[in-house]
Amino acid sequence: SIVYLNGEYVRADEAKISVFDRGFIFGDGVYEVVPAYNRKPFRLTEHLQRLERSLQSIKLATGKTTQFWADLMQEMINRAKTDDSFIYLQITRGVAKREHIFPVPPVAPTIFCSSGPFIRPTAEQRERGIRVISGPDERWLHCDIKSVSLLGNVLARQVAAERGVDEVIQFRNDFLTEGSLSNMWVVKDGTLLAPIKNHLILEGIRYGLLATLAERAGVPFEARNITRAEVFAADEILVTSATKEVLPVLELDGAPVGNGQPGPIYRKIRAEYDKEIS
Ligand code: PDD
Repeated sequence: SIVYLNGEYVRADEAKISVFDRGFIFGDGVYEVVPAYNRKPFRLTEHLQRLERSLQSIKLATGKTTQFWADLMQEMINRAKTDDSFIYLQITRGVAKREHIFPVPPVAPTIFCSSGPFIRPTAEQRERGIRVISGPDERWLHCDIKSVSLLGNVLARQVAAERGVDEVIQFRNDFLTEGSLSNMWVVKDGTLLAPIKNHLILEGIRYGLLATLAERAGVPFEARNITRAEVFAADEILVTSATKEVLPVLELDGAPVGNGQPGPIYRKIRAEYDKEIS
């Protein structure tokens, strides 16, 4: 497949970066994962706004405009093998002698973009939902930055994999944060609950979207601190990410969530989500 690297479109197996790239050495970079339906990026404006926020948070000035990122992603979508694809964009602080402080003068950032087939969750997967375990959130305190420093996420996801489940619901000081690569939602007495947007979670592109879809579906929505006890007593748990879209969580630590079936609030939200992407 063809990837974009620093201004060139090259074969993935021929794309090369320096061993001194700060992304490799320090995890000093940010990324985005953008889904495309029918060769159109979904919620591109929101993704580009989040990218700018991430870049600003790590003080990385790329000199590129929003239009540059939009054009690059569309080009990768056009070159993708499938009509539905996801675009991966990563930007690092570039190549320099290994020193923690930013290079002086600044060096050109490394810009990498690839695409992959986006296999949407099937009807069967939507009914089966996903299974999760609970675990401590051991990540740093800037989870709002979409940073490529993902060791905490990787280790959490690996624990889930070794336990044979799909995701981990993380708790910090007994409050729900999010999954290792997804946002988590709780339904109680017909209200959709999400953790407050702050530095402890990544604001998924679906975070704002689900709030809007809930309103459209007549489902009350509230963002507030959610305790561990509330998660374990939830009527429904939902999970969202670019690749999962929205799915029901039907098993938590080996026990069914609610009655173990996709619930009514999930179905309402899912119906609205399907309208958005059709
Ligand atoms: N992950 N929280 C974390 C920690 C994430 O890594 C992601 C996305 C989300 C959901 O964000 P969005 O709705 O914008 O996909 C929440 C991507 C898909 C990944 O790392 O592969």
